[in-house]
Amino acid sequence: MESFHIRQAMPCDVKQLLNIEYTCFSSDRISVQQMQYLVSKAKSSIFLVLEDTRKNLAGYVLAFAPKNKVTARIYSLAILPQFRGQHLASYLLQHLFEMLNQKGYQYCHLEVRESDEKTQKLYQKFGFVQMKKLLNYYEDGEHAWRMRVVLKS
Ligand SMILES: CC(C)(COP(=O)(O)OP(=O)(O)OC[C@H]1O[C@@H](n2cnc3c(N)ncnc32)[C@H](O)[C@@H]1OP(=O)(O)O)[C@@H](O)C(=O)NCCC(=O)NCCS
Repeated sequence: MESFHIRQAMPCDVKQLLNIEYTCFSSDRISVQQMQYLVSKAKSSIFLVLEDTRKNLAGYVLAFAPKNKVTARIYSLAILPQFRGQHLASYLLQHLFEMLNQKGYQYCHLEVRESDEKTQKLYQKFGFVQMKKLLNYYEDGEHAWRMRVVLKS
């Protein structure tokens, strides 16, 4: 297996991040403008990428982490199809939760498609539980589950 390390996203990652976005999602995608903003100017976010030794990115996790340090929110998580099933998403999530715990956040929320039971199971492994069903949450009309975990701090 290729070895990956985790680092903060940077402006030079935009092209690869958009490729991941368009490959992994068919709706509710982060736009080019949003992506450029998120990797350069966004102050209340944690944007982590997985990079191999040849500087290719396999995936990312993006979380909003507001100044009040109460509730962080995972906005997006994606791993390119050829790298799935190797616990890379779990590796990113583990790293993110270590950062959130260090910073003192109390909760983490996220939304996940109602039909996507595999991803819900992945989040359950990290302690997330279903909180609320959000009707017609996605652009294509699918409902979402809002999930929440209580962080350790
Ligand atoms: C969801 C996603 C990020 C998971 O990435 P991944 O690196 O394959 O996940 P992991 O390998 O860390 O999975 C951890 C566990 O969940 C299971 N799992 C998670 N997603 C799965 C999937 N799509 N298919 C099969 N198993 C999956 C794994 O088998 C593994 O279980 P195990 O610990 O018992 O072996 C990836 O499938 C993806 O990018 N999907 C498209 C984008 C998306 O839907 N993102 C989520 C938005 S809420």
